[in-house]
Amino acid sequence: MNHLLKLSDLTGPQIIQILDLADQLKYEKKHGIAHDHRLKGKTLGMIFEKSSTRTRVSFEAGMFQLGGHALSLSSRDIQLGRGESIKATARVLSRYVDGIMIRTFAQSDVEQLARFGSVPVINGLTDYCHPCQVLADLMTIRERKGKLEGLKMCYIGDGNNMANSLLVGGLRVGMTVAVATPDGYQPDPQALAEAAAYGEKFTLTNDRFAAAKDADVIFTDVWTSMRQEAETAQRAKAFAGWQVNRELMSCAKPDVMLQHCLPAHMDEEIAEDVFEEHVDEIYDEAENRLHAQKAVLVLCMEGK
Ligand code: CP
Ligand code: NVA
Repeated sequence: MNHLLKLSDLTGPQIIQILDLADQLKYEKKHGIAHDHRLKGKTLGMIFEKSSTRTRVSFEAGMFQLGGHALSLSSRDIQLGRGESIKATARVLSRYVDGIMIRTFAQSDVEQLARFGSVPVINGLTDYCHPCQVLADLMTIRERKGKLEGLKMCYIGDGNNMANSLLVGGLRVGMTVAVATPDGYQPDPQALAEAAAYGEKFTLTNDRFAAAKDADVIFTDVWTSMRQEAETAQRAKAFAGWQVNRELMSCAKPDVMLQHCLPAHMDEEIAEDVFEEHVDEIYDEAENRLHAQKAVLVLCMEGK
């Protein structure tokens, strides 16, 4: 694997290969089996143009556990924030570090970084997608359900970066995917065009109860993503009644899992009682960011 820019660049078997390695690295970590030889002496530069808790900490801890080092580069502190181009940033960082993780706005910036840099680039979230998160999500589902193929994934809420990556990732690994959004908040047309190739395995609706019917796993995410803060009031109105709560969960299978990439807004997109009932699997999901990303780092950077 050269880069992780978006899940659409990966085949189903490539996603499974990442999950298999993630499981192995998690096992090794839990059993004290050292794996700090894998990225010994390597450095990851992490560019942040948006806030982060999980992505920042899991990448930095992950690099350390693999024997390498990570440095956090807020766009406020580097020249990128003062207008130095992505192209120039890619060229110069490639002279210092062995890989770059970036969290930014435009997907085209991530693609450009990969094009003009000469080291692996990993997408740590854009407005378009969140591939690292969805690898951790798929890992968590497989860990708890023992498989992915044939399960029904349901996403309720805003057709945002999480929705785009979940529907592509779920379909790639053989899941059935149902997405429910209010009208006007559908996923990106590019992700929907990909989903269309999966025929009846994908449904998009504005009926959240139909989408949740017999689901094995329900996902939701915030109604207002980073950079959309000015739309908060308008979105609160559009999403009124779209909360994932007991009534919605009761449409799913009795052993349904609930996932949220976090941070969550209690009693907005998710009812706090439902969140608390599923708190272990949601924090397993957060933990698995570490293991899934270590797999991505190894596959992109080992031996380079
Ligand atoms: N889920 C996620 O990416 O969290 P952070 O924004 O804290 O990195
Ligand atoms: N959709 C959210 C995800 C945060 C991890 C956002 O982009 O803000």
